[in-house]
Amino acid sequence: MPLVTNKEMLIYARENGFAVGAFNAYNMEVVQAIIEAAEEENAPVIIQISEGAIAYGGEKSFAALIKVLAEEATVPVVCHLDHGVNFSTVIKALKAGFTSLMFDGSSLTFEENIEKTKKLVEIAHAAGIPLEGEIGKIPDAAKGPLSPEEVKKYLTTPEEALEFYEKTGVDSLAISVGSAHRMKVQSVQLDIERIARIKDKVKIPLVLHGASGVMDDSVIQAVKAGISKVNFATELNKAFTHALREELSNNPDLVDVRKYGAVARENVKKTVKEKIQLLNATNKAPEILKLINKRSFAMGNKNVEAIE
Ligand code: G3H
Ligand code: ZN
Repeated sequence: MPLVTNKEMLIYARENGFAVGAFNAYNMEVVQAIIEAAEEENAPVIIQISEGAIAYGGEKSFAALIKVLAEEATVPVVCHLDHGVNFSTVIKALKAGFTSLMFDGSSLTFEENIEKTKKLVEIAHAAGIPLEGEIGKIPDAAKGPLSPEEVKKYLTTPEEALEFYEKTGVDSLAISVGSAHRMKVQSVQLDIERIARIKDKVKIPLVLHGASGVMDDSVIQAVKAGISKVNFATELNKAFTHALREELSNNPDLVDVRKYGAVARENVKKTVKEKIQLLNATNKAPEILKLINKRSFAMGNKNVEAIE
């Protein structure tokens, strides 16, 4: 089916006790693995392309690949820009056909973040595309160990989340609730009570970033408390690389890319399926499809040519 936006599915997830898995991809095998996993789980899915992935493979190539594979799939697939830090990247992704966008202004001042996010919301909405914003900051574990004080200073408060939403009109909101990006070991317990307080105040879908480092039971609690989209990147990188490394070291004569590529792809698929189950998103595709058909949310990215 054609690519869809994540607007409808995230609102539905918020009201129905599950979250949609958002998985980062850096190559064709990972895109294939994510879609195959979603089909086997009969679940809606979001494929995310970061600025780093765009620098590596190009926004047009990823948009084209995801579009074609989504069209062959029977479950709803979203092509999402993850952490657009530069204004120009968000516009580039919109023009390339992404059906969901994120602007990450978390390194700006509160006012600058509001100003830029609001502008991009207006542009995205003119093309019928939803936009995710970020308030608070999700730290990067790869930059070194974080003290509990550092993590605390980045946490999102319900008050700033509400003000940010009211002033920007974002469709979904990434919040900082204890996780950090690029953790290779699952050890984080999230601030569940904070999630519940933010959900109570801000009536749009909330997004958890850096889920690779979060304990499974905490992810389950976070979804119950009100998280509607959960982002995984490092877990997929680990699954791909570990399988590849093992295959190549077990078969030193192997040179056929397709042989070891398939092994790595299979392991990513297994990981994505486990995450979809963890988020309680298995078998949620038919309900989402019904809503999409009913309210005609399945849409192309029609008006982007008008954007300078
Ligand atoms: O935006 C992407 C995610 O937040 C992924 O983070 O690599 O820690 O899973 P992760
Ligand atoms: Zn993130």
